[in-house]
Amino acid sequence: MNLKAVRGMHDLFGPELVAWKKVESRIHSILSAFGFDEIRTPVLEHVEVFKQSVGDDSEIVEKQMYEVLERGPTADGKAAEKLVLRPEGTAAFARAVLEHGLHRTGHIGRYYYSLPMFRHERPQKGRLRQFHQVGAEIINSTAPETDAELLVLIDHLFREIGIQEFTLRINSLGTAAARAQFAEALKKFMAPHLSSIDEVVRAKLQRAPLRILDTKDPSLLEIVRNAPTIGEFLEPQSRQHFETICSRLTALGVPFVIDPLIVRGLDYYSETAFEVTSNALGSQSALGAGGRYDGLAERFGASPIPGIGWAIGLERVMLVLGTQLATEAHGPLAFLAPIGPAAFELLLSKSLEMKKSGLRTEISYERDKGLKWHLKQADRLNAQWAILVGDSELSSGLAQAKNLRTGDQQTVPIDKIQDFLHQEFQKT
Ligand code: HAM
Repeated sequence: MNLKAVRGMHDLFGPELVAWKKVESRIHSILSAFGFDEIRTPVLEHVEVFKQSVGDDSEIVEKQMYEVLERGPTADGKAAEKLVLRPEGTAAFARAVLEHGLHRTGHIGRYYYSLPMFRHERPQKGRLRQFHQVGAEIINSTAPETDAELLVLIDHLFREIGIQEFTLRINSLGTAAARAQFAEALKKFMAPHLSSIDEVVRAKLQRAPLRILDTKDPSLLEIVRNAPTIGEFLEPQSRQHFETICSRLTALGVPFVIDPLIVRGLDYYSETAFEVTSNALGSQSALGAGGRYDGLAERFGASPIPGIGWAIGLERVMLVLGTQLATEAHGPLAFLAPIGPAAFELLLSKSLEMKKSGLRTEISYERDKGLKWHLKQADRLNAQWAILVGDSELSSGLAQAKNLRTGDQQTVPIDKIQDFLHQEFQKT
């Protein structure tokens, strides 16, 4: 019997989970301040949601989707339907927008989600099969200021949660017509190199030529660095849109680089595309990514709804933030050390009152241990204070409060322990 978690899927608990929740809660308040409303879509979607939008030729649809077979044949006798575990949030979001008419308000809609995603990829550092994305999406606006707003937001968000070292890379993918022209130019450019590239890349060049730019293979990178760029094929309107974004970002002091190799692996993108990368991550360097998807609703057979968004990978964010957060994650703790049964009864009820008042306290249910044993437990739990009560403290009404960081000890009236700890914890 295999009792291990499924490969590429992790249990989260202890200080790591506390650190996660702290970061998530900071992100939620930033998104809320920027006017985003939360949306939660189901884990399972119909397979078409992703086939029609992310695209049949994308790696996600081609080989990374987890499929779930709906039980038994349908009522009308058709074969059981295939459902998929959501591999990304944007297509599911667009499905929900259409289903509930969220675009019909006539004004800009801002939504965010914080949800697990599933992709059957080869697990490695920063790449999982169940991972968590926070995504932000804006609908009903084609204005380049919307693109700039989302880029300001992602830059601000990373800095606010403590990530300083990252690069925002942006590009324009133009219109479908511009991409088609660029694809032809790319194929022509690659023709003399066909013998030196492998079969997989050659196939990609035929089916989805732009995706060869997304390579991590150093020898192919060397070749494509000299390839024509999409910038040469942009129509005036796309060029203008992109230039406005760049000048807004410059005016707002948001650092960015223009990277013509950003093409994105999902079919729904047009115009603006971007990635945020960090050197701290190794080969899976993208902390977050996104772009415009004005044509996505049409892929679902609906009228156009302009949209743009990004998603950040929480596992990668936590990797960059490291363990520093994990150790700071818990609030301060007081360890209550009763020496003897009478002190135990007293501190046990005090401990519950203190917890109800919001103080983190711990008490051991071992009732016949000595002072040394209690102090060892307090140390193991990384407590800031130990409150010691034995028979002599009971008769004097004064507990010993030991600051375990400084070693200082003072007496505190037993009925004032709760107030004392509240005051001390406020200082930390
Ligand atoms: P994506 O580039 O596929 O875009 O994923 C966005 C982010 O999710 C990545 O930059 C990375 O941080 C994280 N990520 C992706 N795959 C994994 C994985 N296997 N393990 C850990 N983290 C991962 C999208 O998903 C688009 N829906 C983004 C978007 C929103 N575009 C417009 N709106």
